[in-house]
This record gives sequence, structure tokens and C-alpha cells, in this order.
Amino acid sequence: MAAHQTAGADAGHPGRRALLGMTAGAAGAAALLGTATPAVAGSRPAARGIARELPVPAVIAHRGASGYRPEHTIGAYQLGLDMGADVIEQDLVPTKDGHLVCRHENDISGTTDVADHPEFADRRTTKTIDGQELTGWFTEDFTLRELKTLRAVERIPAQRPNNTLYDGRWTVPTFEEVLDWAAEQGRERGRPVWLYTETKHPTYFRSLGLGLEEPLARLLRRHRQHRANSRVFLQSFEPSSMERMAGLVDTPRVVLLSSAGSRPWDFVESGDPRTVADLITRRGLREIARYAQGIGPTLDLVIPRAADGSLGRPTSLVEDAHRAGLLVHPYTLRNENRYLPAEFRRGEDPHAYGDVFGALNAYFATGIDGVFADHPDTALLAAADFRG
Ligand code: G3P
Ligand code: CA
Repeated sequence: MAAHQTAGADAGHPGRRALLGMTAGAAGAAALLGTATPAVAGSRPAARGIARELPVPAVIAHRGASGYRPEHTIGAYQLGLDMGADVIEQDLVPTKDGHLVCRHENDISGTTDVADHPEFADRRTTKTIDGQELTGWFTEDFTLRELKTLRAVERIPAQRPNNTLYDGRWTVPTFEEVLDWAAEQGRERGRPVWLYTETKHPTYFRSLGLGLEEPLARLLRRHRQHRANSRVFLQSFEPSSMERMAGLVDTPRVVLLSSAGSRPWDFVESGDPRTVADLITRRGLREIARYAQGIGPTLDLVIPRAADGSLGRPTSLVEDAHRAGLLVHPYTLRNENRYLPAEFRRGEDPHAYGDVFGALNAYFATGIDGVFADHPDTALLAAADFRG
């Protein structure tokens, strides 16, 4: 842990950057992409409003420092911040009594010890969520009081066995606890702590009478994070959720974009035939810019992968989005081979670390404004080579 913290803290130090050989890394990325200069592909008029205070590229601790701690725990958020991450991400789902809690999925079978609680055995059930049938335990069937009797565990223990050391150490945090934590950390550090907060399955939860946006807006107002200059990005894969938030608060908003052929679930439910491919046209991006300040595309929309899994040539998405005035924060960089483009994998073990610096250099060279990363310390070291 100490090594991680040191790495993040050192990332911005000029002497450290020189020692790391930033020119070689950045130049290598430029060569890969066929660009003359490494840091910016196309114009970058994107940083809108208060987001200008963030470094570019910014590093967003994905579910906290989830490469090192069970995701969406105060421990994962704290480590991400201690490493020097610029922004800390949360995913939000509701409890039965309408509290917003931080989990990537409302199915908590894999991220808590709920299976070890006989008193909740009868809550195990099968549901269809966004067209997918799932069997497990779900946050919307638990009151907050009940949920707080559970402990968080590592979601992918086979891949990240070291993280199981922390199983049971933390509870499932509420978003209100995270807002309090961020305010306290900001006071201690003398600078604001940025959050990046996603509404998960908003159409599904609204159908249950558990709409996410209104309680989220109430929390943001109570914590004075409802203004355009708030240090929170809101995000969703469902554009209508961000449009709804735009009617409730002025907090900056980001539309997440999955693969080009996919359809946001709110579009499926409303019969809107558009796919992500339609949303990333210049016209689609201009429409998004009417109610959002950024996009969060999958990395493959920025640099598609070839059939062999290696990187192809960058698309025009970054330049098009910037032209529409939108920030670009793609997801998600992870150190392990299994997630990396083929040319950056090292050895045969899918769980071993590959050449993530090579991958980060290639993505940063496209001019993106930031990246979601499970291992923020690694991303910060690479980002330092691209910051002005
Ligand atoms: O929110 C950015 C990224 O986290 C989107 O993917 O599935 O990890 O929430 P997911
Ligand atoms: Ca997310």
C-alpha cells in the first residue's frame, strides 16, 4: 500500500517525470498513432466550466482504487484519493426504503457477504433487469438498516486474490456518507475532492417506484453540490437520466456510451430505435451537449480493436466531441493482461500485469480529457507525461 501511495504522490513531480522517461513514452504513443505531437490529437476546447480546475488528462479512480481494495468501499475511495486520483467514482443503486448506496450492481451476491446471512436466505430471488435474468440478492429488497449488517467483499477474488485480505473490513457506503467523507477529506487537504457519480439502471428502478434522480438531487442540494461549479460529475448509460438530472440540478453531467451497436436501456423501453452509433455522430454529440458537459465512451470507441485484439487507428470521436464542447472521459483502464489490447499483454497469465503504460500512452495521445482506472497510481504516472 505504501508503494502505491508514493507512486501517486510522485506522479506530478517534474524530476520524477524526467526519471520516468516521459519523452520516450509520449513519443512512442505518438508514433503508434501516427501523430507528430503526443499530447493533443485535434483541438481541446473541451474543459467546460469548473472542470477547468482538473488536470488533463484527469485520472478517475474507478469504483475507488478497485484494483487494490474491494470496490465501492470507503477503503477503496480513500486509497484512490491517497494515491492522488483527481476524481473518485461511485455507482448508485437504491435500498427498499429509498436510500442511495454505492454498488456497481443492485445484485449484491458477489460484493457482500449476504450469502453468509441465514436471516436473508429467503430474499434470494430471480429478476429480469434491463432484459437480463439474474438470480441473487438485490439492494431494493433490503432496508438500509438491513443492508448495513452486511460487509463488503472483493468482487473478483480469483483475479485479485490480494484484495480478499480486506473482505469484511467495510460496510456498503451510502452516497450521503461519501459526500460527508469527501467534504471532510477536502477540508483536511485544503482542496476540493471531486466525485463522479453514476445512476445505475434508472429506468428499471423508476418502474419499481424507486426513481434515483430525485433523491440524488435532494442529497446534492443538501450538500451544496447542485450547482454548475460543483465538484461532482453525474453520469449514466441512460441519456434520459441525465436529461432528468438537468431539470433538477446544475451539477455537471456525462452520458456514458457502450459499444456502437448497443442501445441505451431507456431507448429500448421507450421504443427509440437509436443506438450508440447514432449518439456519436456529430449531430448526436451536439444533442448530448444540450443537457450534458461530457461523454464517457468505452475505450474501444476511441481506438477500436482489430480482430486480433490489438489497437487499430483512433476514431474522430475525441475531436468531434471536443468540437461539440464535450469532455471525453473513457472507461476503463486496468493493469491486468486480460483487459489490455493484445500488443500490451505480457506472458500467458491473464491476471498478471501487462504493459499498461504502453496502453495508457496510446489512449492519452488521442487527446482524451481523462480516464477511469482501477489502478489510479499507474494511470497517474502515465498521465504525468501528458500534462502541461
Ligand atoms: O462509469 C464509467 C464506467 O464505470 C462505466 O462502466 O460498468 O464500470 O459502471 P461500469
Ligand atoms: Ca460506473
